[in-house]
Amino acid sequence: MTAVTAVTARDTASGPVDFGLRLVAWQRLHGRHDLPWQRDRDPYRVWLSEIMLQQTQVSVVRGYFERFVQRFPDVRALAAADLDEVLALWSGLGYYRRARHLHQCARQVVDRHGGSFPRSTDALEALAGIGRSTAAAIAALSFGSRAAILDGNVKRVLRRAWAPRLRGLQATAELRALWTLAEELLPQDGIEAYTQGLMDLGATVCRVRRPACAACPFDADCATRGVDAAPASTPRVRQRARWVLLWAQDADTPRVWLERRGPGGIWPGLWCLPQHADPDAALQQAATLGQLRGREQLTPSCHRLTHVDLELVPLRVRLQPRPCAGERDGGWFATHDALALGLPAPVRRLLHRG
Ligand code: ADE
Repeated sequence: MTAVTAVTARDTASGPVDFGLRLVAWQRLHGRHDLPWQRDRDPYRVWLSEIMLQQTQVSVVRGYFERFVQRFPDVRALAAADLDEVLALWSGLGYYRRARHLHQCARQVVDRHGGSFPRSTDALEALAGIGRSTAAAIAALSFGSRAAILDGNVKRVLRRAWAPRLRGLQATAELRALWTLAEELLPQDGIEAYTQGLMDLGATVCRVRRPACAACPFDADCATRGVDAAPASTPRVRQRARWVLLWAQDADTPRVWLERRGPGGIWPGLWCLPQHADPDAALQQAATLGQLRGREQLTPSCHRLTHVDLELVPLRVRLQPRPCAGERDGGWFATHDALALGLPAPVRRLLHRG
């Protein structure tokens, strides 16, 4: 095992001593070693996994990651792809801005860096969709750089273990203190195991609710042992929305009308059934697309997005399409072709059902 420089008690007042040393040892014994992006240190695979893992759990990411690298084995293949194909592979993973940034970043790596990811965190951070913590994760996990990560899980670990040092700080001062702490704690050696260890500890042991303190290497010197991190009394303000989705089908051939969504809001850039506030508005649009042959309101479904509870009410109509259908960014797609596009997961499920 590589030697790891101990972090002194003076550096880490009111927190565990030898944090880096102990975390590296813990990771080697108890951390995760069989994740698909850990097979080698290929920066492309590390970057892709880090972007997919933002706000998404490992269990969900695994399958998406495997399909992605099978289709796009390297950054050049991804840069050469159509955004629509990237969005289609991303469909269901959510937070679609990540997919657009991913594609943009792949092109920047090819254009600016000749197809190789840069090694410096500054150059990594200058790429689309890569923030300070993600840049550090890529640099540490693929190039062995001593760079500090600070994602949501790591913040929670540090907040708990160094609670006395951070107590009473306002949000901006706390964030600054967390970054300082994260940098002070970096070990001289074993940065890959350390970085992965922080992620593993946050995800599997130092969980938001019911942390598994008995399994934690810092159990004895943690200031907040066993305390849930989620504030009990501040429920998130969630919005509610109800959308009527116009599901226009060609009465003669199996085709569906889809429109590309704008760059902002929910499902940016994805292809979707047109969204309306009420059935009348949906029927008005239907009349512009073709002659009505039949209509049917389907059972609504509910979808929990990040900040919105979305009720979707599909209104299926059969139309005799008009030759030239409106000026919106849309078109008639054969069902098979539609399913190959970047569609929001609930729309994909509807179209699958037929
Ligand atoms: N979350 C963010 N990055 C991760 C990684 N490399 N492994 C597991 N979970 C993570």
